[in-house]
Amino acid sequence: MAKGLFITIEGMDGSGKTTQIEKIKEYFQQKGYEPVLTREPGGTKISEKIRNIILDESNTGMSPVTEMLLYASARAQLVFEVIKPALNQGKVVICDRFIDSSYAYQGYGRGIDLKFIENVNEPALDNVMPDITFFFDIEPKLALARRISATGADRIEKEKLEFHERVYKGYKDRAALFPHRIKIINANRSIEEISEEVRFWLNKVCP
Ligand code: ADP
Ligand code: TYD
Repeated sequence: MAKGLFITIEGMDGSGKTTQIEKIKEYFQQKGYEPVLTREPGGTKISEKIRNIILDESNTGMSPVTEMLLYASARAQLVFEVIKPALNQGKVVICDRFIDSSYAYQGYGRGIDLKFIENVNEPALDNVMPDITFFFDIEPKLALARRISATGADRIEKEKLEFHERVYKGYKDRAALFPHRIKIINANRSIEEISEEVRFWLNKVCP
């Protein structure tokens, strides 16, 4: 049985995950822990190679099933090599995205059967599930606008927005299904207000 604490961070691109992960890290450091920070897809040498294949923009012909299997492969390696060993040592593990991303993006976004995603990911997860998940809830339009102002891109493509609307619905549905694990955090607030609510929940799981 895992003894550590496994925290995952979910939300649309631009919802403030990276910003809040820094704050979560500081929370645990102040308590004397050395949290293990990792991300999906990636986090191991093999998983980062898989990430490069998935996110390579020249791989235009990738099928949704191929993509879903690659995310699951990257996850299997990360669980095997980093997350499970760290939890077994009693560590706090903070992961930027995890299984809920596959349901939201591959399931709702690309239309892959949710049961198929569940079956494929079962061996990848190897009985590891987050103790707590923060879903940073922000309208896709606002999240994209933040991303665009950060990266300098100049317009929101319609297709992209429709895709993100579906992903967003996926997250909302997952959060409704697992209210004890997934905490919905209104991310359309100041960085400090959001961080305060996150700390409130962290205090409950790690006083
Ligand atoms: P993600 O990792 O989810 O893509 P980031 O943390 O990188 O999101 O944030 C995306 C952009 O929005 C960055 O420019 C960041 O500084 C900014 N940002 C983060 N949190 C907030 C917030 N609460 N209010 C306004 N802007 C924010
Ligand atoms: P990344 O650049 O890390 O995005 P972000 O900074 O927003 O986290 O790219 C990760 C992308 O991979 C992101 O668009 C979401 C997507 N993704 C999936 O589609 N399925 C998954 O299972 C995971 C883990 C990520």
